[in-house]
Amino acid sequence: MEQGDIRVHDKVFRTYLPESTIQERNGTLAREISEDLRDSNPLFIAVLNGAFIFAADLFRQLTIEAEISFIKLASYKGTRSSGHVVTAIGLDIDLYDRTVVILEDIVDTGKTLHEFMPQVLHQQPRRLLVASLLSKPDARIFPIQIDYLGFRVPDIFLLGYGLDYDGHGRNLPDIYQLVED
Ligand code: IMP
Ligand code: MG
Repeated sequence: MEQGDIRVHDKVFRTYLPESTIQERNGTLAREISEDLRDSNPLFIAVLNGAFIFAADLFRQLTIEAEISFIKLASYKGTRSSGHVVTAIGLDIDLYDRTVVILEDIVDTGKTLHEFMPQVLHQQPRRLLVASLLSKPDARIFPIQIDYLGFRVPDIFLLGYGLDYDGHGRNLPDIYQLVED
C-alpha cells in the first residue's frame, strides 16, 4: 500500500479523480445542459443506485427549469458485470413528447442503457439524451451515444462518488481505482 491508498472491504484503492476535478467538470456539464435545454423543461432520469450522487450534484447546478425522477436497474455484482439487467423501480412519469435526459454514473459494457433506452423510447419522448459522469469505451459491447460525458476512463474498476464495490465506498467524495494485487 502507498500513502493515500485506502482499503475498502478486502481491496486496496488509489485516488483517480479528486473531488475538485469532478465538481469542476459537473459545473461545465451543467452549464452546457442548461444552455442546450433551456425552455424544454427537461426530465432527468437518474439510474439508481450509482448515479444518485452525480445526479444530485449536476441537478443542483442546472440554472433552468427541470424535473428529475429515478429508475432502479441492476447489472453489476462485485467487480464483474453479472450480465443481466433487472428493472426494480419503474417510471411513473409520462414521457410522451418530453425532453428526457438519462443520468448515469458510468457506461461500461453499455448493456444497462441498451436495455433501458428502448423502454423510454417506447413512450415516444420528443428527445432522448444521455449524460454520464464516466465512460469506459474499451469495455463497450453495446454502442451507446453519450451526449454529455464527464470523463472517458480506461477499463479499470472505479469506486467512490456513488460507485460501489459490493455496496461499499459510495460515500467517498473522490473517485478511486482498484489497485491490483
Ligand atoms: P454496463 O451495463 O456494463 O454499461 O454497466 C453499467 C453499470 O455497471 C453502471 O451504472 C455501474 O453501476 C456499474 N459499473 C460499471 N463499471 C463500474 C466500476 O468501475 N465501478 C463500479 N460500478 C461500475
Ligand atoms: Mg449505474
